[in-house]
Amino acid sequence: MSLVNSKEMFKKAYEEGYAIGAFNVNNMEIVQAITEAAAELHSPVILQCSSGARKYTYGKYLIKMVEAACEMHPELPIVLHLDHGANFEICKACIDDGFTSVMIDGSALPFEENVRVTKMVCDYAHDVKARGRYITVEGELGKLAGIEDDVKVADEDAQFTNPNEAEEFVKRTGVDSLAIAIGTSHGAYKFKPGQKPRLRIDILDEIAKRLPGFPIVLHGASSVPQEYVKIINEHGGMMPDAIGIPEEQLKEASKHAVCKINVDSDLRIALTAGIRLHLDEHPDHFDPRQYLGDARENVKQVVAHKIKDVFGSENKA
Ligand code: G3H
Ligand code: 13P
Ligand code: ZN
Repeated sequence: MSLVNSKEMFKKAYEEGYAIGAFNVNNMEIVQAITEAAAELHSPVILQCSSGARKYTYGKYLIKMVEAACEMHPELPIVLHLDHGANFEICKACIDDGFTSVMIDGSALPFEENVRVTKMVCDYAHDVKARGRYITVEGELGKLAGIEDDVKVADEDAQFTNPNEAEEFVKRTGVDSLAIAIGTSHGAYKFKPGQKPRLRIDILDEIAKRLPGFPIVLHGASSVPQEYVKIINEHGGMMPDAIGIPEEQLKEASKHAVCKINVDSDLRIALTAGIRLHLDEHPDHFDPRQYLGDARENVKQVVAHKIKDVFGSENKA
């Protein structure tokens, strides 16, 4: 199967009460690990790349690697999605490059500005006559807490999505899905030690009530697997107090209106743990295929676990 947009994927996920994993891709091993796990479990999957990933892979390499994954797994529905598109131009460039889905992240803008830029992207992406295909668009409303390269929002500014605004935003922009803020955050340090992690499922339900059948997206949804954090910390790394979203809460969210769950940090942690452990145990190794092979296997296991035990998308391809 060639690349698809997320329209039908989300419709089925919504109706059947599961979520699709949207995994960030940055190199070949990560693309391979995700798509092998998804293929073995017959799960639809979203490969998403950030502006940082596009820069790192010079744009072209990433697209070619995703195309290779499509050839390797012809039966697998794969979405190639732009993560956190900062403006219309970036979204347009990705659409013109063959992406099947884009996110326009206007969440830091005033509401009216966010509506304007999101609608502009939708008008371009949804113009089937001009583009020859329908590209799905994800918008974002509300601010996530946390720290990451291109998305920096101070904890104090964390702001949950307002259900009234969400309804108005979706109706005025025509977006196909909406990322909301209900307590998740980007990165590996989502909560302070002792703080009780809690997603505001009540806000999610209120938004779902106003937008029946409409797919909701959760960013910053890594669970920060403690077994890998421990390996990192015991083999030369330093990630004290790395804490993620409890899987039970993600499971709950995916039974509600959440159709897409974003995971990046967990893959980074699994990959890093694999490399650190391998090099610590084999100080004489210097062939990247040895330590990257182990690291790739870790990423594959994390993705398989999410699909099977958390998101519920196994056998839904
Ligand atoms: O939410 C964004 C992803 O974690 C991408 O992060 O900008 O460092 O590639 P990045
Ligand atoms: P994590 O940092 O929780 O993996 O979130 C990733 C994300 O939201 C990508 O857009
Ligand atoms: Zn994100």
